[in-house]
Amino acid sequence: MRVLVTGAGGTLGRAVLPRLRADGFAVRAMSRRPRHDPAAEWVVADVGTGAGLVEAVAGVDAVLHLASQPGGSRRTHQVDVLGTRRLAVAAGHAGVAHLVYVSIVGVDRVPFPYYRHKLAAEQVVAAGPVPWTVLRATQFPVFLDGLLRTASRLGPVVGDPAVLAQPVDQREVAARLAERLTAGPLGGIEEFGGPQVLRFDEAVRAWRAARGSRRPLLPVRFPGRLGRALRAGGLTTTATPTGRFTWADHLTDTYGGTGGR
Ligand SMILES: NC(=O)c1ccc[n+]([C@@H]2O[C@H](COP(=O)([O-])OP(=O)(O)OC[C@H]3O[C@@H](n4cnc5c(N)ncnc54)[C@H](OP(=O)(O)O)[C@@H]3O)[C@@H](O)[C@H]2O)c1
Repeated sequence: MRVLVTGAGGTLGRAVLPRLRADGFAVRAMSRRPRHDPAAEWVVADVGTGAGLVEAVAGVDAVLHLASQPGGSRRTHQVDVLGTRRLAVAAGHAGVAHLVYVSIVGVDRVPFPYYRHKLAAEQVVAAGPVPWTVLRATQFPVFLDGLLRTASRLGPVVGDPAVLAQPVDQREVAARLAERLTAGPLGGIEEFGGPQVLRFDEAVRAWRAARGSRRPLLPVRFPGRLGRALRAGGLTTTATPTGRFTWADHLTDTYGGTGGR
């Protein structure tokens, strides 16, 4: 099976490429910039403008759509919602048999502006011309790690101690995506989370221990509907199977031996 991977140079994309190759897929990787990598066929295309899309989808059996542009409402709408539509239409014209879209657990419950666009993009995929699957994943540990570094820039780690998270390793998400490609279109949404639901204060405690950091947690209760959704587990899922790689495993791999494994 020949698969086009959009967003192939991103965090998840870099885990997906070796997984698909190891599982015997022929991979075409897409980026907005030319890339040179003898292990994959790279094509240049931009879902935000449509440039290069017709060529990118030509001759592939499936599209794994990971490209996304968080961090700016107009730009996110242009890339995630309209860009997903452009991709779906191009894939439909090319006779692609399966479009897999990667979304996030909680897009239907947690009122982040980015999630509104992800939910709209899911709907574009479901209403589009290509048989489809949506895989909603929880946060990757590297993403949570980055958030904590940002949250602690001014000294203490600032956050709501009761927010729940369920980090899942991007390599395990990649393996799940490969299984979904093999299984064919689900015509529905599957959720995939990590092995443990953690409170924010627990996650921070382990993170501080692993980094040998003395930065205290400055508890801030997130207000309103957003805070309630995050504390009620809006970012977590009861779906099984789950990944197996824990937050402690991530901390051990990243900072060495003191993650509490
Ligand atoms: N991060 C998480 O914790 C997490 C959790 C669950 C689900 N997800 C979802 O998983 C997907 C991948 O996430 P990620 O963390 O790997 O994201 P990422 O590292 O930010 O990578 C996203 C990629 O999208 C590509 N892109 C951006 N704008 C584009 C455009 N206009 N046209 C074509 N490509 C464009 C970029 O590739 P180039 O710069 O090479 O063009 C970039 O490498 C996203 O849909 C995200 O919502 C993420």
